[in-house]
Parts: sequence; C-alpha cells; structure tokens
Amino acid sequence: MLQKAGLIASFVAYAFNLLGELAWGSIETKYRQIQFLSRPPLTEHGEIRNIVIIGASYAGYYTARAIASNLPPKSPYRVVIIEPHSHFHFTWVLPRCCVVDQEHKAFIPYGPFLKGAPEGRVRWVRDRVAKVDRDGVWLEKSREQVPYAFLVIATGAGAAEGLPSRVAADSKAEGVALLQEMQRNIRQAHRLVVVGGGAAGVELAADAKHKYPEKHITLVHSRKALMHRFGPGLQAAALQGLEDLGVETILQERTATSSIVEGHINLQSGRRIECDLLVNCTGQKPTSSFMAGLAPEAISPTGTIRTKPTLQIQDEKLPNVYVCGDVAAVGIDNPNARSAIRQGMVVGYNVVREATGGSPTRTYNPFWGEGVIKLTLGLDKSISHVSDGKTELWWQSKETNRELMFAEAWKHLSVKPFEDGDRAEKQVE
Ligand SMILES: Cc1cc2nc3c(=O)[nH]c(=O)nc-3n(C[C@H](O)[C@H](O)[C@H](O)COP(=O)(O)OP(=O)(O)OC[C@H]3O[C@@H](n4cnc5c(N)ncnc54)[C@H](O)[C@@H]3O)c2cc1C
Ligand SMILES: *[C@@H]1O[C@H](CO)[C@@H](O)[C@H](O)[C@H]1NC(C)=O
Repeated sequence: MLQKAGLIASFVAYAFNLLGELAWGSIETKYRQIQFLSRPPLTEHGEIRNIVIIGASYAGYYTARAIASNLPPKSPYRVVIIEPHSHFHFTWVLPRCCVVDQEHKAFIPYGPFLKGAPEGRVRWVRDRVAKVDRDGVWLEKSREQVPYAFLVIATGAGAAEGLPSRVAADSKAEGVALLQEMQRNIRQAHRLVVVGGGAAGVELAADAKHKYPEKHITLVHSRKALMHRFGPGLQAAALQGLEDLGVETILQERTATSSIVEGHINLQSGRRIECDLLVNCTGQKPTSSFMAGLAPEAISPTGTIRTKPTLQIQDEKLPNVYVCGDVAAVGIDNPNARSAIRQGMVVGYNVVREATGGSPTRTYNPFWGEGVIKLTLGLDKSISHVSDGKTELWWQSKETNRELMFAEAWKHLSVKPFEDGDRAEKQVE
C-alpha cells in the first residue's frame, strides 16, 4: 500500500515537473524570439535552410509542431516533413480495426495540427527516405535530394507482417482495404491461430473471440508469460481476461511453420493445431537501415539508433542530427507513444535553440509513468497498467463508449471526429 502511494506521489511530481518544463519552455522561447528579431540574419542573401524531419507519427509530428510554431517569424529555417503516409496512422486501435468495422477512423488527416505555424513554414513531401548522407536525404520515389541544416529521425518501428501492428500501405484507401480484408478473413475463419502474445496479439485475440464466441481461437506465445515487457500483475490479468472469454492460450511454444499446411500448423514441440487462419502479431523492428551509410556505429544490434541525453545522435561528427521515438535507443523497455511525444518535444526545443543561435540544453530522461498502457480485453473491458519496474498499479474499466478512444485521438490532432475532407479517399467508404 505504502509502495503504491509512493508510485502515485512520484507520478504527480512528474506531472508538475512536466508542466513546469512546458511553461518555462514557452516563456524562454518567446524571449529568444524577441532577442532574435534584433540580431543580424544568420544566413546571407535570404537563403532558406531546411530542418528535415523523417517520419510524421507521434515523435515526428510533435517535433514538427514544436519547431514550426516556435521558430521566430523572420527565421531563415523551414520545416520539411518527409512521410509516405497520406494520413496519421493511429496504431493503438489497429488490432480492434482488424475485427470491427471502424477502419476509417484509424487514419487521421494530417495538417490541422500544424495550423499554428506561419504560412510557408512547413513543406510536406509524400515520399520515403531511401538513404541519408552528410549533404542531404535521398527520396525513394522522386530520387530528389533534400539538403538539411538539421535532421530529425523519427521513423519509429515497422512490422514485416503489417497488420495488426502497422499498416503496410501509404494511402488511406489502400489501408482501409487491408483492414477490411483482415476483417473478412477473420469473419470467415472457423479456427483462428494468433501468434505473439504482446499487446497486439492479446487485443486481437480477445476482440475476435468477443465478437465471434463460436469460433475457436488459440494464442501461441513463445515466452513464459503474455505481455512480457510488463509486470507480472498485468501478465496474469491478460491471461485471465483471455481465459474468461474462452481463448485458448499456449505459452512457451513456437510455431515450426509459417503457413497453414493441410488445415493445421505445427508447433516446435510437435503439437499440431487445426486452423484455417493464422494472424502473425510478432516482430516489430526499428526502422533505421537507411542510416547505415551515414552513422553505422550508432545503430545498435536491435536496430535502434543510439542517442545522447539531448537526443542528438551518438556520433560526434553529426551534432545536427537528432533521433526520437521508437527508433531511438533511450533505455525504455516498452516503447510507447507518450515517450515518443515527449522526446519529440525535447528535440523540438533543442533544434529551435540551435536555430536561434543557442546550444541544445534540454535532455530526455525516461520516466516509467509514460509507459502506462490500456490493454483492451474484448470489446467492453480494459486494464490500465503502470509500473516503475518494482511496484505495479493496475485497474480494470468497463468500456461503455467504444467511439471514445477514436474521437479523442482525432481531437488531439486538431481534427473534428470523423471529418475527412479528402474526397478521393472518401469514395471508398
Ligand atoms: C497495437 C499497438 C497498440 C499500442 N498501444 C499503445 C498505447 O496504448 N499507448 C502508447 O503510448 N503506445 C502504444 N503503442 C505504441 C506506439 O504506437 C508507438 O510507441 C508509437 O507509434 C511510436 O511513434 P514513433 O513516432 O516513434 O514511430 P511510428 O509510429 O512507428 O511511426 C514512424 C513513422 O515514420 C515513417 N517512416 C518510416 N520510415 C520512413 C522513411 N524511410 N522515410 C520517411 N518516413 C518514414 C512511417 O511512415 C511512420 O509514419 C501501441 C502500438 C501498437 C502496435
Ligand atoms: C511472423 O513474422 C515474423 C517476422 O516477419 C517471422 O519471422 C515469423 O516467421 C512469422 N511467424 C509465422 C508463424 O508466420
């Protein structure tokens, strides 16, 4: 009990600290903007300098906003966002959208979130970065080179298998089609095997069983416990939640084959499971290979990119390159959107300082409270969980309003739920 009180107290202290940081940040930024106006220009002949941000998900989009809205009015810098997706992919709800037809809501229009920035401050490039060198980033489709004065790497993680962890499509129309195909496959299956007992696998198996109680659903996980990045309390609650719904869970087992042969799959122990659909929920990997030419030593064996506390890349030759979000090696056990956002804000702050003649001073210190997770266990139940590695705190909730989570995310990104102006994208609805 005392430990839990301590946990709550340090959470509250963190929140106050964060508010303080935000308030101080905006006062200081205003001060620097005023100072900057009376300075001689940093560049000659009105040359424009690019702050290139690769990836516009939680980390990159927040970095873009922090920089675009805090650069002084006459700054020679502009923000160039390079992102292949037509819309922001709301990852948290992807497992649900594999089962329930809410798929359009997982794609949130880009743009309004940056409306505070002055005209011409932001350029969007809908392309993928193929490689990076000292002079610029190279685009995959257009083969164009974009030079940078500052570079922010926010490319997160990818899943080779696509759904349910990531959508392997760039346009909303294609993404919606992929989700609908998955919904159809699950609807038509009689015996479903879900491989991987992280959040995506647990949520998908639970939602599918809740919606289709008559189907036989098995979850296969290689570790001793589900949700292995989290504490034993959540692990037990997840297992119980699946059991209550009637999902069969098999732990400490790996699949021996990656596809269904003659109506079943084999496990490495020799056990056979009859099934007609397999959904692979394993294998998210940081997206960093495009950096191999520029900073090979900074890439860790798991694919994350090593950073300094200021979130500059761990390479003395590249002080103008920053890394944030799931792709950054910052010592977090369970990478999550909240810490990606906070890292984005640290990078935004430091880059604005540098772009106004200062040096990067803010550092990112991981805080366990950012790893708070809400795990859904079927369509009307969830468990929220937070842990500092020693003490765990979790509580169960009834989810009565299924629209709520979607609507909040849209509003968060300054978009009215669920208005999507893009007519071409609308036609598929
Ligand atoms: C099923 C699921 C549920 C989750 N639930 C939660 C939750 O409840 N709470 C929570 O806090 N977190 C949750 N997360 C984790 C959260 O989604 C991630 O931590 C977060 O998405 C990381 O954000 P990011 O910006 O670092 O990278 P990502 O979201 O991975 O985005 C990377 C972006 O970079 C772009 N990109 C990649 N390569 C290139 C390139 N070469 N050129 C240009 N652009 C590129 C991609 O298109 C993408 O837009 C969940 C994740 C999953 C999969
Ligand atoms: C699941 O996907 C991962 C990553 O692509 C792959 O290594 C693994 O073999 C796949 N497993 C199954 C059972 O398909």
